[in-house]
Amino acid sequence: MTFAGQRVLVTGASSGIGAALAEGFAARGAVVGLCARREDRLAEVLERVRKHSPESRSWTIDLADLSGIEAFARRVEDELGGVDVLVNNAGIPKRRHVSELTPETVDAVMAINYLSPIRLTLALLPGLIERSGRVVNISSVAARLSPPSEAAYAASKAALTVWSECMQVDLHDTGVRVHVVNPGVIDTELFHLPDNETSLADLDALPPSEVTSAVIDAIGSGAFETYVPPWFADIVAGKFQDPRAFLEGSAAWTAERVAALGQ
Ligand SMILES: NC(=O)c1ccc[n+]([C@@H]2O[C@H](COP(=O)([O-])OP(=O)(O)OC[C@H]3O[C@@H](n4cnc5c(N)ncnc54)[C@H](OP(=O)(O)O)[C@@H]3O)[C@@H](O)[C@H]2O)c1
Repeated sequence: MTFAGQRVLVTGASSGIGAALAEGFAARGAVVGLCARREDRLAEVLERVRKHSPESRSWTIDLADLSGIEAFARRVEDELGGVDVLVNNAGIPKRRHVSELTPETVDAVMAINYLSPIRLTLALLPGLIERSGRVVNISSVAARLSPPSEAAYAASKAALTVWSECMQVDLHDTGVRVHVVNPGVIDTELFHLPDNETSLADLDALPPSEVTSAVIDAIGSGAFETYVPPWFADIVAGKFQDPRAFLEGSAAWTAERVAALGQ
């Protein structure tokens, strides 16, 4: 699939999935806008992106500062020449037992993982409607599977997912298409950030390029929701058939993992 002539904004493009997405879109012909907080890391990614797409550019911004998002959106539209594809990818984990969460932590996770992509989407929406654009929200399997010690994180992603569903319904008579991509366990810095409990995940981490492929495929096929890897869709379907059994199974699995990891 080619994105020649298209302008793609990728948030959280300084590492991991966002960096891979930025390179993936640039390699397919798009002019890419990258943003995140770490200037040095953004510069490294931009250098790789510009090998494919010299007009691409980057902005350093803290997207958790919600008051700056409207002005940022205007700047991106001016300097990038509009946005055809918005990829809301920036996000933080928060692996912490519910009994140890504070209201401030929950607010902070919600601000970056939910409120900031929503503000950015709303600010760019008139242009996206005009251009029959795409919105890709990088959510998580956590939004559907409610893993242990991830109440704040999973709820922020579930909010993003449900927002995406409602948005697609409201925009059915426009050319805008919304896509939700739910990564499982991807090999990124997200598992090594401070201030998080050790992950209990027992899956082999996939490379970020798997998410890039899923995003490109979703845009090509028009799929609304995609899992990486795809078999997570079956687990989610099973959960909705019997939520109580799923949650009991999840609690038993958690106890086993905690014992196995000696936590
Ligand atoms: N890795 C996984 O297994 C996995 C699974 C499911 C979902 N996801 C989701 O995938 C997305 C990307 O995560 P990743 O795994 O690639 O981890 P990552 O390497 O830590 O990337 C997170 C990105 O978000 C940016 N970011 C975080 N806070 C920000 C802020 N306040 N303002 C602007 N940018 C901010 C980071 O840049 P700066 O630090 O430079 O600001 C970085 O570019 C996240 O939304 C995550 O929830 C990941």
